[in-house]
Amino acid sequence: MDNKTLERMKEEFIANISHELRTPLAIAKGSIELVLEEDISEEQRKILLRGKENLDRLNKTIGDLIEAAQLADNPQLHVEKVDLRELISTCFDEMSKKAALKEVKIRAAIPDNFPTIAGEKERLQRAFACILENAIKFNRRGGEVIVKGRKFNGSVEIAFKDQGIGIPRGQRHRIFDAFYQVDGSSRRRYDGMGLGLALARKIISLHGGEILVESKKNQGSVFSVVLPVRKHVLSR
Ligand SMILES: Nc1ncnc2c1ncn2[C@@H]1O[C@H](COP(=O)(O)OP(=O)(O)OP(=O)(O)O)[C@@H](O)[C@H]1O
Ligand SMILES: [Mg+2]
Repeated sequence: MDNKTLERMKEEFIANISHELRTPLAIAKGSIELVLEEDISEEQRKILLRGKENLDRLNKTIGDLIEAAQLADNPQLHVEKVDLRELISTCFDEMSKKAALKEVKIRAAIPDNFPTIAGEKERLQRAFACILENAIKFNRRGGEVIVKGRKFNGSVEIAFKDQGIGIPRGQRHRIFDAFYQVDGSSRRRYDGMGLGLALARKIISLHGGEILVESKKNQGSVFSVVLPVRKHVLSR
């Protein structure tokens, strides 16, 4: 069997597993939503909402694992013109509920004339969402996240600054490894499986960029994504 056939079989296999995992989840969620529309007690509503939140969490876990499997093969990117301002605004919408729950304010400071880049919109959005999600999750209650954009030497930098717990110096390079978490204990206060930053780094590196991190313990962290401004199709 040649490599191309093998690759196609693996892609089909992942797509099939993805479908088999996601379909029942979507049906379960839809069922809960239907009952939520009924005239039910506050207590019942609370229970159903908790069920729905956990299905969302499982959906995210499945999505991340599937993306990790796809990225492991260094996939070809579906390159298009990407407006990063718009992309970040979509990430904000996606994360607004999580931010509100933690009373974290998120705001963007990106110049109007910020350049568009050539990249895969969906994957870049996932990478930014992973970083933004962390900036909210590991922030202090009532803290702030600022997302700043700047342009320099044919590159763009998007920096996510939080006011959270920070990352000990010795572990800063390891947090990008799949499944690595600073506090990996079972009594850990934060959910997640340690895949977000591994996905983000892989996606950014497929785009010819990199992620840098600076941090002060208990004061906050800054994750900076640097991407080359390419107007045309990427070659890897
Ligand atoms: N902004 C941040 N502030 C403090 N620690 C962070 C921050 N971002 C990441 N970390 C540390 O790096 C670890 C790895 O991050 P990563 O996003 O890969 O995993 P996760 O958030 O634990 O789980 P997942 O992203 O899979 O839901 C985190 O568990 C946390 O210890
Ligand atoms: Mg994460």
